[in-house]
Amino acid sequence: SREIEPNIHASSPIVIGHRGAAGEAPENTLASFRLAAEQGSHMVELDIHLSEDGKLIVCHDDTLDRTTDGSGAIRLLHSEVIRKADAGSWFSPSFAGEKVPFLEEVYDLLPEHIEINVEVKDSAGSLLDRVLLDYLRGEGRLERTVVSSFDHKLLLRLKQAEPELRIGLLYAADLIHHATYAALLETEVWSLHPHHGHIGARDTEDALAAGLQIYPYTANHPAEWDKLISIGVTGIITDFPGLLNEHLNRI
Ligand code: G3P
Ligand code: CA
Repeated sequence: SREIEPNIHASSPIVIGHRGAAGEAPENTLASFRLAAEQGSHMVELDIHLSEDGKLIVCHDDTLDRTTDGSGAIRLLHSEVIRKADAGSWFSPSFAGEKVPFLEEVYDLLPEHIEINVEVKDSAGSLLDRVLLDYLRGEGRLERTVVSSFDHKLLLRLKQAEPELRIGLLYAADLIHHATYAALLETEVWSLHPHHGHIGARDTEDALAAGLQIYPYTANHPAEWDKLISIGVTGIITDFPGLLNEHLNRI
């Protein structure tokens, strides 16, 4: 496939490939992450759960049913069973044989300059905290990681256990004042991850003034990108990182 140059204008938002390049490849597979990298993503977003045997599994849903030919809850399945599932065919026969990845495979696959936004979906508790932090404390990993979650208590717990960890607050709510919410948590927050429809210029200004990155999700259309660019967000989470890069390079 054709490689797309990353956008390098200092004032442009970074391009964050959602579940890899989920618009063009089966979400959360190595094929999707490889494509997101080829398309010049600065960061990729992915979702994790813990399997029954305590492995970090990259998958959006808490079951295998929608995105593989397997079924069942990830937390109740042994990773050997999860690995037998085909995670590509549902998207297109050309992706047949893609597996549900382990988190470490994504870190091993992507070049080191590509950052990784790990969204923790399964907040079942201390085992996941421990397994995730143990992994992220390995050579060079904390620096390239932002952990986000809709579960902010979980993020605070992780930050307390590992102060070097960058955390990103993910939320769907239309808050009155976005940067104030982060300040209320009384811990160092790296980024805000609001829904793209819920922010305006004032929110971006306040976030930047508070030293926060602002990475809205999941914007897939040029009109949405233009709005986010005009209000000065620092990153855009998209299923089409290649198209977003081409769009940024045109303007
Ligand atoms: O991380 C941004 C976005 O992925 C959050 O929603 O449901 O796509 O994981 P969802
Ligand atoms: Ca996600």
